[in-house]
Amino acid sequence: MRNIAWLAASFLCLGSAGWSQEVADSVAPESSVAGHFDSAAPIIQEALRAKANEQPVEAENWMVSAANPLAVAAGADVLRQGGSAADAMVAVQTVLGLVEPQSSGLGGGAFLVWYDAATDELTTLDGRETAPLAATPRLFQDDTGEPLGFFDAVVGGRSVGTPGTPALMEEAHRRWGRTPWPRLFAAGIELAEDGFRVSPRLAGLVARDAERLQRYSETAAYFLPGDVPLQAGDHLRNPAYAETLRALAAKGAEAFYAGPIAAEIVQTVQNAGGNPGVLSLIDLALYQVKERAPVCAEYRVYEVCGMGPPSSGALTVGQILGMLDGYDLSATGPEAAESWRLIGDASRLAFADRGRFMADSDFVPVPEAGLVDPVYLAERGKLLNGETALEHVEPGQPKFDHALNWADDEAIELPSTSHISIVDAYGNVLSMTTTIENAFGSRLMVRGFLLNNELTDFSFRTHRDGVPIANRLEPGKRPRSSMSPTIVMKDGQPVLAIGSPGGSRIIGYVAKAIVAWADWGMDVQQAVAMPHLVNRFGTYDVEAGTEATTFSEPLSEIGFEVKERDLNSGLHVIEIGDGLKGGADPRREGIAIGE
Ligand code: GLY
Repeated sequence: MRNIAWLAASFLCLGSAGWSQEVADSVAPESSVAGHFDSAAPIIQEALRAKANEQPVEAENWMVSAANPLAVAAGADVLRQGGSAADAMVAVQTVLGLVEPQSSGLGGGAFLVWYDAATDELTTLDGRETAPLAATPRLFQDDTGEPLGFFDAVVGGRSVGTPGTPALMEEAHRRWGRTPWPRLFAAGIELAEDGFRVSPRLAGLVARDAERLQRYSETAAYFLPGDVPLQAGDHLRNPAYAETLRALAAKGAEAFYAGPIAAEIVQTVQNAGGNPGVLSLIDLALYQVKERAPVCAEYRVYEVCGMGPPSSGALTVGQILGMLDGYDLSATGPEAAESWRLIGDASRLAFADRGRFMADSDFVPVPEAGLVDPVYLAERGKLLNGETALEHVEPGQPKFDHALNWADDEAIELPSTSHISIVDAYGNVLSMTTTIENAFGSRLMVRGFLLNNELTDFSFRTHRDGVPIANRLEPGKRPRSSMSPTIVMKDGQPVLAIGSPGGSRIIGYVAKAIVAWADWGMDVQQAVAMPHLVNRFGTYDVEAGTEATTFSEPLSEIGFEVKERDLNSGLHVIEIGDGLKGGADPRREGIAIGE
């Protein structure tokens, strides 16, 4: 009960009800104009009402939770007509690339976790962007070997990696699709041609980023037509995007990786004024989605499973939870500073290992099994057995069969990205986190979509005191990610699909939401809405304007450096039990829809 009182107070601070009305206004009547969503319009309103009332959405058969109502409605349409979760993902992603272009799209990359009901198997697919073959380890250094400023590296062609999202969509559909591929593009094409209303979040981000968006003419013309930033409620069309989707619908991902679209991507990257890049046609032609072994960590009665390297997501979420497993968080509860001391220091220890050991395992040996070995984590968890913040936090020594000598990484990751959770009527579960990295990526736009800046997820430095950094840039390598698409399993069955945007804070958002749900008995909507306290091995970030700030003083007193700030997670979650329960983060515009 105490959890619920705390949450109610925090929601008042976030003012979610007024915000939801704004989103509802921005959805109607475009959902009817687009035709596709006639039947979904009432269900969107119902989902928005549930969110405003702090309730999970409940359903029997299928559900989709993602960052924009129009995208969710497109996915729901596919599921309602018997499509699989993989089919619905293609529809959701293509609409997200239109209505939430700042976060993800065709020009980016994604990781996908899939539970297959027919085989009871988990599969993870890596659709991460890849460093061009002509990229050198010093791509993000100046002539003296010093790292470039972050945005000097981001804006322009230099930061653009080979996109993976179109290939990932195709691969997921090839493996698990039930709906004819071209049909999955119908909603995106129609919305791009007829137009949609610009959401408050997109308008706010355009205004904030206007100076950078102005640097390249195609981007400026779309986001700042007539030099005026898009406003919430503006009717926006994107015929170039519709054309791109038509090409993908007709020819598959090949239409993206070869031919005129590929040529224009390369031309745009290589000629980006002031900051050209080295992406070439051969990089696009060689791109491959990679199937990786899922990484699973034990927590209480669950197995928490997700994406291994090049993502640090599942390993770091698994480490945090694995170290906490020896502590009874349900006894201390969310209102005790002691719980946050344990979570904060477990996070610091996990991030120390992440900075030292985690990178693309096709290029550097990563001690994956050792990092989530329950014996290693139980031993490391004993470090938490004090009363104050740890004075010194160092990487540990996970078991491995290689000699390891890496220096600590310092890649900067700013919040961006989007998460999609889907359960279909056949019992398949999909958890996919998708990104173009920074908000609006490289700010380069080609044929209606933005190109990523994912290469800045590499460490800008290659060595520290002569010792190599695991996550340094190398040609053909994939930058380390924090994306944590997760499926929680119990007794071999999926019980939760979850993930979030948020740069390297994704890891803390996901771990904390799992604790809230597993240990503190919160329902999925409460778990995603709960105010944030996250630590990435630096300041203890406390969500400004929420009840979480009551911990600022106690945590400072025991030795943490505390900073109150906005923390814009975008958790989208589905619980799978007797029925389905969906939650959507009140900090963003998303909803869950199910039937
Ligand atoms: N660029 C966000 C991530 O991959 O973690």
